[in-house]
Amino acid sequence: MWEADKIASFRKTLLAWYDQEKRDLPWRRTKDPYRIWVSEIMLQQTQVATVIPYYERFLDWFPSIQDLAQAAEEQLLKAWEGLGYYSRVRNMQTAARQVMEKHGGHFPNTYEDIAALKGIGPYTAGAIASIAFDLPEPAVDGNVMRVMARLFEVDYDIGAPKNRKIFQAITKILIDPKRPGDFNQALMDLGTDIEAAKNPRPEENPVRSFSAAYLHGTMDKYPIKLPKKKPRPVQIQAFIIRNQKGDFLLEKNNKGRLLAGFWTFPLMETDFISQQLNLFENDETAILETQSQKHIFSEDYQLTVNWSDKIFQPVKHTFSHQKWQIELTEGFTTADSLSAEHELCWVPAQDFKRFPMAAPQKKMIETYLKTGL
Ligand code: ADE
Repeated sequence: MWEADKIASFRKTLLAWYDQEKRDLPWRRTKDPYRIWVSEIMLQQTQVATVIPYYERFLDWFPSIQDLAQAAEEQLLKAWEGLGYYSRVRNMQTAARQVMEKHGGHFPNTYEDIAALKGIGPYTAGAIASIAFDLPEPAVDGNVMRVMARLFEVDYDIGAPKNRKIFQAITKILIDPKRPGDFNQALMDLGTDIEAAKNPRPEENPVRSFSAAYLHGTMDKYPIKLPKKKPRPVQIQAFIIRNQKGDFLLEKNNKGRLLAGFWTFPLMETDFISQQLNLFENDETAILETQSQKHIFSEDYQLTVNWSDKIFQPVKHTFSHQKWQIELTEGFTTADSLSAEHELCWVPAQDFKRFPMAAPQKKMIETYLKTGL
């Protein structure tokens, strides 16, 4: 590690740059831990420009922790619709309830108490502790790890969760105890812009003279990032069922971890492996498979359906661990009563916006409408 005067000089240089260049962002105009928390959770998987309108609307709908603790699930999901990774907002509500019950509605002001809240990991706890409470805690995400890896030529994979502690320890030594929130945010700005993963601009880096990788010409080698496992392919059959009025059958997903609470066309997972084996070797088997799925659907949903033979482009959507390929099938029914085994309702297309819908459902609607009614 560097000597004390080098550390002091690094802090000074980084903060002087931040004071000049910092972006004016809505969550930088407040010290309110609730607001900072909301911004940090939104920013976890989403870019700043996308987050800003969501952030403003979220605080408009849920101005306080109490409002968030009491929010209805549908409104909560609506507020997050389009941001993805919905467990983030569910966990926030659980955490808001913890704050109400354990801390009398006041956001806790120590690192340990903040980190004990649901959905708050070391990064978010560090960000809130430093920005809202001026505590000298590091906030280390992938961007900050990239900066540290180059400063010190760190030979540990930044993609492996177990290595995060190493980068936290380094940042904890460097952090400026007088301005910890600004220090952390300066590293974030540096990591997302000048030291971006794609097209970095090392010549503009205010701390390049501190950077071992810059000085040794090893910027291409650092950070070390080993390839991740690919998402698992999953084959899904979607049933687009319409009644005599032209309304669509929608189902609320109460089962799987993905899309829980969201409304979609009824979906059924087909066994991807057997599908693959059969599909490519024998077209007839594939047709039989689809036939039997339709049969299973009719049985399971207790609906008599007239299936159309319209062909749709498959819809693709990738989550972090799964890659969905969704086949669409259209059918019509004269039945009106609905199976009580599922949470179902008939919805005219113009009312879709009232239901929380995630990206795969939006893509299915788009494909369906594009193919012509
Ligand atoms: N990314 C994550 N947190 C951030 C913050 N506070 N400011 C800018 N970008 C961020």
